[in-house]
Parts: sequence; C-alpha cells; structure tokens
Amino acid sequence: MSDSRLKRIGVLTSGGDAPGMNAAIRATVRACIYHGVEPVAIRQGYKGLIENALEVMNARSVANIINKGGTFLKSARCEEFRTKEGRAKAFATAKAANLEGLVVIGGDGSFTGAMYLEQEHGLACVGVPGTIDNDIYGTDCTIGYDTALNTVVEAIDKIRDTATSHNRLFFIEVMGRDAGFIALNTGIAAGAEEILIPEQENNIDNLMTELQNSGRAGKSSSIIVVSEGDASGGVFELARTVEKRCPQYEAKVTVLGHIQRGGKPSCFDRVLASRLGVAAVETLLGGESGVMVGVRDQQVVKTDLDRAISKQNMIDSHLMRVAKIITV
Ligand code: F6P
Repeated sequence: MSDSRLKRIGVLTSGGDAPGMNAAIRATVRACIYHGVEPVAIRQGYKGLIENALEVMNARSVANIINKGGTFLKSARCEEFRTKEGRAKAFATAKAANLEGLVVIGGDGSFTGAMYLEQEHGLACVGVPGTIDNDIYGTDCTIGYDTALNTVVEAIDKIRDTATSHNRLFFIEVMGRDAGFIALNTGIAAGAEEILIPEQENNIDNLMTELQNSGRAGKSSSIIVVSEGDASGGVFELARTVEKRCPQYEAKVTVLGHIQRGGKPSCFDRVLASRLGVAAVETLLGGESGVMVGVRDQQVVKTDLDRAISKQNMIDSHLMRVAKIITV
C-alpha cells in the first residue's frame, strides 16, 4: 500500500474511443481503491471536466465492463478545452472536487490537453495511450489497436470470399488518420496485393505495374488495403483511375469506417489496458506526472507527454519488405 498524500484521482477518456478503454478505466478505479485513493470518474472527457460531470466510483461501479467495447464514461473531442479559458474552467472543476491527479486515457490530442492543464494550472496528469491508430510514441502498442487489427482482418477475409468469386479488384480503406500501422499489418495478415500508407509515397503508375504483374502471375482478384491517411487522393478516386486505365478490372470500394473502433476488446488489449491503468495510478502516487505510461519490450515505461505527442513511431521497414516479398 502506498503512503502517498494523494486522496482523490480523476479519470477520463477523451478523443476517439478504442476497445479496451473500459478495461483501462476499471484498472484505474480499482488501483485507486487498492491504494486507498478515492477515484472520481469524469463523463465525456474534458467536456465533462468543464461542465462538472463528475461521479465518485467504487470497485463495483466498474463491474462487468472489462469485456465491453467503447467507453462507458463516453468520450468527446472538446473544442472549448483547446482554449485557455476552457482549461481554466476545467481546472476550477478539478479544484472544487479536490482532484489532485488526473488519468487521461486517449490519443495525442488528449495528451496535449493534459500537458497544458498541468503546465498552466499544476494539476498532475498521467496519460494512458488509447487509440486504434497505434500512432503514439513511447509504447509498442496503444489500447484498442490489437482489437481493431483483428476486426479489419476478419472483414477483409470476408471481402476476399466475394472478390475471388467474381474476379474483382477490391480497394479497402482502413482507419489510421496519419499512420499506416493498421493498413500495413492487416494488409500482410489478410494477404493484400498492395498496401498504401501515408508514410510511403505511392504512385498510381507503380500500382498499375504491380496489378499487371499480378495478372500475369495468374491472380484473378486482388485486394488493395488503403490507409485513410494515404495521399493518393482517396480510395474512390484511386478505384476510378485504375478502372479507367485498365477497363478489364472491375474495381469495388469498401470503406470499413467506424466498425473498426467497436467490438469486444481482445485479450491483448484487456491485459494492456489493465497494466497501464494500474501503472498510471502508481505513477501519480509515486509523485510523477506529465508522463504517459506505455509498454516497450514487455516492460511498462514512461515517456514525457511532450515527447509522446511530438515524436513518431516509425513504420517497420522490415515489415514493408515482407509485405512486398509475400505478394509475388
Ligand atoms: O484516431 C482514431 C480515429 O479512429 C482515426 O483512425 C480516424 O481518422 C478518426 O479517429 C475518426 O474520428 P471521428 O470518429 O471523430 O470521425
């Protein structure tokens, strides 16, 4: 048990929801209780902090949520919190409620808010990376990423069944606002012919050449996974261009969209979220803040929030090579 002087810690989820956020809230709440700290949940992210949507939790308040997708606290992208005035209002709520620390579960936008809140008002904040995009520096995986990968692979497997039945070319757009981790990994796992990601310059001539090579190699259907952040002008434009230049292809487009954010969290995400929720509370109790907790090489590690926000995880060039080799 800790002898920390912290008596009350708040927890919120912010930005895009991700499967496993509930498990992270549960772990945060229960770690607080384990250490004799009162956990306070904030509904609807920073909006709830501004509007005083607070609720004291007990261990049973988070029963039966570890297996649920989404976030039972709800999330929001809050414009008002981007302003100094908004953050001052949020801090006033935190102060009135005697919150001495805040666990923020979210992505880089949420961490930027946490960093300002701490810098401007001195509220101790710790970040827990929760986003399906896996685009946060300082952790090998973000909460929700593994579940999203499995959802996407399952969907592409189904599309493959119909693609092969009709000799069709399928362009499948997956999420990942500025990052190609979902596209690259699901593309490999689902046997995609081509994978287009924002980290790599893609060009339509190369794509045409690859498709023609595939045709010559005896492939009668193809799956092309396109990350939503890819700069090729959008998945519909790509499909139109390919059909125009090669009328023998019947191109179809599927945008997987928000289905990728839903569903039961995988075992991996539940364990990751549980570890990081506990780590976040213990970080605050240890007197540290302004950091994000993550996992690198199976170990819990801490990264300053400004580094977590400003640095980028690199796409694994070895994986890119593997993707190329296995599509011959
Ligand atoms: O950051 C997670 C994410 O799902 C991105 O992949 C996607 O671009 C974005 O959120 C969509 O956000 P919203 O649900 O607000 O439209």
